[in-house]
Amino acid sequence: MDGAEKELLVIMPKDAQQTENARLDAVLAQAIAGYDTEFWYEEREFVPLKNRRILFVLNLGADGVNLEYQRLLRWLRRSPGCLEGCVGSVLLDADSELYTKAEGRELVFAANGQGCIFPGKPLVEGTASLDNFLVQSRNLGVDCMGAYRQAARMLVEQLLAFQLPLRRKPQILAVHASNRATSNTLTLWRKVRQHLEDSCTIQEIPLQNGTVVDCNGCPYQTCRHFGETCSCFYGGVIVEEVYPAILDCDALIMLCPNYNDAVSANLSAFINRLTALFSQVRFYDKAVFCLVVSGYSGGDIVAKQVLGALNMNKTFYLPANFAFLATANDPFSINKIDRIDEQAADFAETIRKHLQERRV
Ligand SMILES: Cc1cc2nc3c(=O)[nH]c(=O)nc-3n(C[C@H](O)[C@H](O)[C@H](O)COP(=O)(O)O)c2cc1C
Repeated sequence: MDGAEKELLVIMPKDAQQTENARLDAVLAQAIAGYDTEFWYEEREFVPLKNRRILFVLNLGADGVNLEYQRLLRWLRRSPGCLEGCVGSVLLDADSELYTKAEGRELVFAANGQGCIFPGKPLVEGTASLDNFLVQSRNLGVDCMGAYRQAARMLVEQLLAFQLPLRRKPQILAVHASNRATSNTLTLWRKVRQHLEDSCTIQEIPLQNGTVVDCNGCPYQTCRHFGETCSCFYGGVIVEEVYPAILDCDALIMLCPNYNDAVSANLSAFINRLTALFSQVRFYDKAVFCLVVSGYSGGDIVAKQVLGALNMNKTFYLPANFAFLATANDPFSINKIDRIDEQAADFAETIRKHLQERRV
């Protein structure tokens, strides 16, 4: 491709067996109106892309299956680095209340692993009823379809405007709830951390042994009321230590052992408790990374939980290759993984280059 590359690329896998979706076509047309746009539709050969702004658009129909999208997913998973330097967002529509979030997470995880950055809140989804827009429609004083259209338009604007917020000396906040003496996850983090100490300021917050109570689920007004003073119904370490550290940091690194194919309860409570702060502040200029260590398998599920919660819901941006996944069960067996020190150094470099301004 030469300098004539269009500013926006829409990748919209079209499955001939899926029902036509006029609603999605209309929302898309309005979202991209006025932008110089290239389209990739069905049955085309996928080729590696570099430094493009990509809007992925999926029609999931009533059954949540789009075979052409499955072909795209296969290409993504088989093509290392095929989206290097790209920035992406996702517009999904279904004739069902289900599947949109799960498929969105899957797509973001796959594309991110091949080099694609995602800004905070990179997914706009239209469920069959559009009830997922009830709150936004009330806030905007429009119907759900109007809120859907506005969200899709803003998604494209945000995609095209996104820039990495680089810093001279980035601040990293690492959050964990593991036992320092035995944890494979913390051992892996120490391997990564040593390569960041010169270029970044690093703070670690341990959240073990009941220091964090899960979200009380206060009514929205109550949550907002506490949030106004950077507080929360329960107070404690979350309010005193975690909220200020979140406000100060440029990147949050979640250190996650795989517990029953999910983030552990303490870390999950931490994410839930960000809600009061989130009612006041958005995190678009902060990155989220994660380290996941599983004893057996399923690290991808945990990483998708982190990106779903912190990137899709809580607006942290997702740097390319945001997750470092490893498998190790016995204490310290992480040390026996082939090339683990090299992999840790590579991941540290991924973190650094997404956060640190290059010196001239
Ligand atoms: C409560 C609990 C649940 C776990 N569930 C899983 C699991 O679902 N899948 C898996 O691969 N490993 C599982 N593991 C194993 C850990 O992921 C493994 O020990 C890994 O080394 C990370 O834990 P660590 O950082 O505490 O050492 C579980 C461990 C515990 C203590």
